[in-house]
Amino acid sequence: MSSGITPFGAANPAASTPVAAVSGSIALGPFKRLSNEQLTERIEAIRRKLGPELLILGHHYQQDEVIALSDLRGDSYQLSQQAAASRDCRAIVFCGVHFMAETADILANRPEKLAERGGRRVTVVLPDLAAGCSMADMAAIEQVEAAWDDLGTVIDTNQMIPVTYINSAASLKAFCGRHGGIVCTSSNARAVLEWAFRRGRRVFFFPDQHLGRNTSLAMGIGQEEMPVWDPLAGELGGNSEAAIAGSRVILWKGHCSVHQMFQAAHVHQFRAKYPGIKILVHPECPREVNDIADISGSTSKIIQVVEAAPPGSQWAIGTELHLVNRLKKEHPEQEIHFLSPVVCMCATMYRINLAHLCWSLENLAAGSPVNIIEVDATTARESLVALNRMLEVK
Ligand code: 13P
Ligand code: SF4
Repeated sequence: MSSGITPFGAANPAASTPVAAVSGSIALGPFKRLSNEQLTERIEAIRRKLGPELLILGHHYQQDEVIALSDLRGDSYQLSQQAAASRDCRAIVFCGVHFMAETADILANRPEKLAERGGRRVTVVLPDLAAGCSMADMAAIEQVEAAWDDLGTVIDTNQMIPVTYINSAASLKAFCGRHGGIVCTSSNARAVLEWAFRRGRRVFFFPDQHLGRNTSLAMGIGQEEMPVWDPLAGELGGNSEAAIAGSRVILWKGHCSVHQMFQAAHVHQFRAKYPGIKILVHPECPREVNDIADISGSTSKIIQVVEAAPPGSQWAIGTELHLVNRLKKEHPEQEIHFLSPVVCMCATMYRINLAHLCWSLENLAAGSPVNIIEVDATTARESLVALNRMLEVK
């Protein structure tokens, strides 16, 4: 089969280390001087040239101009499914953040997919390597391993199931794979915790304390059964032996700096000003907000709820600004407000712009791909165990 994408050869010899640039690659600088119209035209040209060999995935928090050029858009769970299902593509360009590109690499290049393609890998590209996630960075594998060992001095860790939010490094997913654990997203966290409680007495949940707490509270687990593990607090993560022994869910002290900004006071202000308004939030918001919201759900759920609402509905939405602004534009028949008076946007998602997208696509088409995300074989194999469990949970 002829391919618009020049074979990449040994473009990425260094396992999980992203390749910033390979020799002969096209420089980024000139792309930054092009207008959005020029960039869009050039991106469209590459999309036409590469056809189904190229899959551009866009997370809901991306800027409108990036979403407009994505083949598929979705939440973290949907994008993992799409990467897992990819059939004909030779390259995935991930408009999202680093952990998402890692997950796409693991799923698109899992053994059965590689066998189907005669061993050919799908190249996964993150247009800007600085697009990380501050929450994912709050749990390092060394800290999680040390915490597990520390917990083992007080409780039987064979009876504890590690659950990592998909917003985490592949090394943490691999940890879960090795220890009978699983990955969750904001759209399946409850089903995943139920899965975990069918297999163990307690759960170690990282890195987002809020998603872990909000989900566990909704399942009837008491706040007093959820100690918070602070990796910087020394022995037992700053907890007493009794707190750990009496725990059902141990929550890692991590959070999303975007969703942490929403406060209960914002909810009260909106309700006072607009009686009857509905408050719709992402479960990465703190408990104080989540508890008093009308609806809490993943980015896709937020979209579905708004799409299904009758004209004239009033909403104050607590999630990343780009998604809320897009909903406002796409649903002029409804009255949509951003829940916070201050700008809460994900600065790292925002790093993916048309200049980086165009630059990475032109390099890809020229056979000199840049910013390849390739997880090392052992981490990928162990992560896949935990990701497959997640994909199988109904
Ligand atoms: P979802 O798209 O899974 O709702 O997650 C939101 C998020 O913060 C992604 O980083
Ligand atoms: Fe990470 Fe929060 Fe940005 Fe999502 S919104 S990528 S959790 S920092």
